[in-house]
Amino acid sequence: MKQAMVMAAVVGLMAASGVNAETGAKADPAKAQQIVNTVCVACHGADGNSPAPANPKLASQHPDYLNKQLANFKSGERKSAIMAGMAAMLSPEDMKNVAAYFGGQKQAPAAAKDKALVAQGEKIYRGGVAAMGVPACSGCHGPAGSGIPAMFPRLAGQHGDYIVAELIKFRNGERANDPGKMMQMVAMKMSDQDMKAVAEYITGLH
Ligand code: HEC
Ligand code: HEC
Repeated sequence: MKQAMVMAAVVGLMAASGVNAETGAKADPAKAQQIVNTVCVACHGADGNSPAPANPKLASQHPDYLNKQLANFKSGERKSAIMAGMAAMLSPEDMKNVAAYFGGQKQAPAAAKDKALVAQGEKIYRGGVAAMGVPACSGCHGPAGSGIPAMFPRLAGQHGDYIVAELIKFRNGERANDPGKMMQMVAMKMSDQDMKAVAEYITGLH
């Protein structure tokens, strides 16, 4: 019992310092360069600022979150025909390294376009949709959308199309890798219009 508690504390400390509990190796973003420049660059850009709105921006995202997603793609817990193939080639150490690399890149600024949608989205982001029982996004993703490591990803500045696509997947259960079904319970209560509005707001959030 006591030993288990000490172990848990040690693993926690290692995670906090970026040390890989499995291999004992520290994440090495430089080692990611070759993988990024030959594979990921095509869809996510060399600096993680994916040009196409269907491909999520990875720049400035929390490394622990990125690492978890890659592990989930590889195990099939998060389904994506494209990313399953990409993650299959990566070892746990590669995942740590690319996650550290992309997380350390600077996100390029983005702007929202539709002012009316932004206003509606801001209400949802900050206050939820009381009538439908949708909680405020800011409660878990932070008031500025910068997320709360390690569990809650950054949303600010993400492509709106990608945000909507993920919300729909959470709503219909196609994406079910969220701990405690936290996101599925949020998305289940959202209309298409809610999703569009909150995504427009998030795109311009920084
Ligand atoms: C052919 C295009 C393509 C390539 C190449 C590609 N990705 Fe992706 N990636 C995607 C798409 C599309 C998604 C969104 C998947 C979904 O949810 O449907 C994604 C999602 C991700 C996510 C989840 C991000 C989030 O916010 O949850 C990570 C992490 C990721 N990719 C990392 C990588 C890494 C690392 C590489 C290189 C080894 C890579 N990708 C190569 C298209 C690509
Ligand atoms: C109770 C906490 C909680 C609330 C409230 C919440 N989220 Fe989340 N959200 C999460 C967690 C946890 C994840 C990460 C799931 C995982 O590990 O894959 C997530 C992931 C996401 C993702 C996927 C990000 C990516 O890069 O793929 C989107 C999009 C998202 N949330 C949008 C929202 C929006 C919009 C709201 C408000 C309407 C919201 N969330 C409210 C906990 C929450």
